[in-house]
Amino acid sequence: FADGPLKGRHAIVTSGPTHEPIDPVRYLANRSSGKQGHAIAAALAALGARVTLVSGPVNVPDPAGVNVVRVDTAREMRDAVQAALPADIAVCAAAVADWRVEEAGQKIKKDGSGQPPALRLTENPDILAEISAPGPQRPKLVIGFAAETEKLAEHAAAKRARKGCDWLVANDVGGTGIMGGDENEILLLTESGTEAWDKMDKTALAQKLAARIGEFFA
Ligand code: C5P
Repeated sequence: FADGPLKGRHAIVTSGPTHEPIDPVRYLANRSSGKQGHAIAAALAALGARVTLVSGPVNVPDPAGVNVVRVDTAREMRDAVQAALPADIAVCAAAVADWRVEEAGQKIKKDGSGQPPALRLTENPDILAEISAPGPQRPKLVIGFAAETEKLAEHAAAKRARKGCDWLVANDVGGTGIMGGDENEILLLTESGTEAWDKMDKTALAQKLAARIGEFFA
């Protein structure tokens, strides 16, 4: 491991989308690229942390020096996160599907009736809320993300409280090209208030966030 302020610390990072099967050939997904989560994993490793990156299906390369666990679904992501505990730091940057199809059976066929099939959805586990819950395995610093399209500060503060995480990184994805793009503009909510960070590329943002995490553990 690199020498740095996070030497001896274990960080779990979730990244990317999840894929929730509809049937054996179809799935529900979202536009997350994994760029931000992967960049955070790399930046934490560069500061000396041992990093477990739990990633949904993405096209970005594995960061060097990071242990990557690949998953498809939210439930697999939750299991991989639980298996990676204990950790000092958890950064939940994945865009986990909120819902999955209740019963994904055989391939859905057109039945000739002209009636489209109904998909019955059921809620996925909330990985961030679970890892934020008080308990002996709770990481000292849990960081969540919030992608919002309106009322950013207000929704972000509510989300931080609801999830029980320590810090929350909020970004406005209503504009053009944030999700999947190379740049990000965020609010950071911590115990001591809210900071608006200038727009910067996802690598720079990851390094700045990792540096803040390093200060937290200093
Ligand atoms: O509730 P919402 O999806 O907007 O919250 C976003 C935050 O919660 C992100 O940090 C995301 O990684 C995390 N999350 C999670 N498990 C879920 C849903 C969201 O860890 N099932």
